[in-house]
Amino acid sequence: MSSFPSFSYHSAKLHVESVSLERIAVEFGTPCYVYSHATLTAAYREFDSAFAGRDHLICYAVKANSNLAILNLFARLGSGFDIVSGGELKRVLNAGGDPQKVVFSGVGKHPEEMRAALAAGIFCFNVESEAELLRLNQIAAEMNKLAPVSLRVNPDVDARTHPYISTGLKENKFGIPFDEAEKLYLSAQQFSNIRFTGLDCHIGSQLTELNPFIEAAEKVLALLARLEAQGSRIEHLDLGGGLGIRYSSETPPLARDYVAALCAKIGQRSQRILIEPGRALVGNSGLLLTRVEYLKHTPYRDFAIVDAAMNDLIRPALYDAYHEVLPVTVSEENAKMYQIVGPVCETGDFLGHDRRLSLRQGDLLAVMSAGAYGMSMSSNYNTRPRAAEVMVEGDHIHLIRERESVEQLIAHERILP
Ligand code: LLP
Repeated sequence: MSSFPSFSYHSAKLHVESVSLERIAVEFGTPCYVYSHATLTAAYREFDSAFAGRDHLICYAVKANSNLAILNLFARLGSGFDIVSGGELKRVLNAGGDPQKVVFSGVGKHPEEMRAALAAGIFCFNVESEAELLRLNQIAAEMNKLAPVSLRVNPDVDARTHPYISTGLKENKFGIPFDEAEKLYLSAQQFSNIRFTGLDCHIGSQLTELNPFIEAAEKVLALLARLEAQGSRIEHLDLGGGLGIRYSSETPPLARDYVAALCAKIGQRSQRILIEPGRALVGNSGLLLTRVEYLKHTPYRDFAIVDAAMNDLIRPALYDAYHEVLPVTVSEENAKMYQIVGPVCETGDFLGHDRRLSLRQGDLLAVMSAGAYGMSMSSNYNTRPRAAEVMVEGDHIHLIRERESVEQLIAHERILP
């Protein structure tokens, strides 16, 4: 429980800050995502204070959790944003985010998305190929704008994480090889409507060691030195996101140690430092609250069939990811080894395997560490309306997203004439 300071038991009942999860289930129903305002705030502040006066910008990776209330909370704390679509740009603007603190990542930016970002006046485009650079140059010319650009280089570093979320190897689709990036920076005058302002990398997600970050930073700094020696002026360095969190027994570096290590590596260089953390800001700030619908005992297995499913939280099915499952009310009676599964018609629809729990029908469970890539990756598979989301602040519960209705899900569909 040490990873979740705002989630704790009082009189054998699990609480978020001062609110019992039982109360949330009664007032808002299940499944329901529950976030802690205090944990979100503390996570942001830990990153921010670690920069200790150095010029920096934290660009929260919106994809990890894009709820407007969460974006608004980070915007109020001074955060910038890392977006990957026009949709995320709209969310950031609607949530009160400052476009001057937005970086736009991703390998496949659409012309419309580029136009919207240029019109909003974002801080920087993280460009991932020469073809993208040419398109951006053309669109900026049409709009009579100068597009600020950072090339995302591929440092060819092994992030030692799940292969689906490792991005910094040369065989991955991300980033530009160093030699090609160097040529592009040095041919800046070819791109009339581009201004090269930064240098960027991102090597993967859920990294639990510092070494790959340091290795990538060293390579990027070597490239920076070569570019400066040839007359390029680079104003900021974006070292991406990727810092992991503790789901079970991992021991990722603390945010403050990670930031301190990056700052130490960068030394006295004048560039502004950007980072793009997603998971480390929100992952352990949220849980998925679910109710046991049925207990099903077969000669082979004991199943707890709950009302949350792979459409609500796909990480176990997609990455075989582990999420701790805690009882909302502690009981020692008659514990069994349960398979925690949802109602979706797929064997891959599980939230946890082999969890020792004492359960009765109707009990509540908390699927922990679900604040990142939970709701933001949810779907309507099996025509399941998406869960409600609430944020707890002290003894107050804010509803930050209403539960969807089936009517909303089918509203855009048409039968044949
Ligand atoms: N910057 C870029 C360019 C990214 O692609 C990502 C994540 C981040 C920042 C934020 O990374 P973080 O700090 O959250 O690790 N769905 C997967 C994770 C996919 C990460 C994609 N890129 C999961 O559930 O584990």
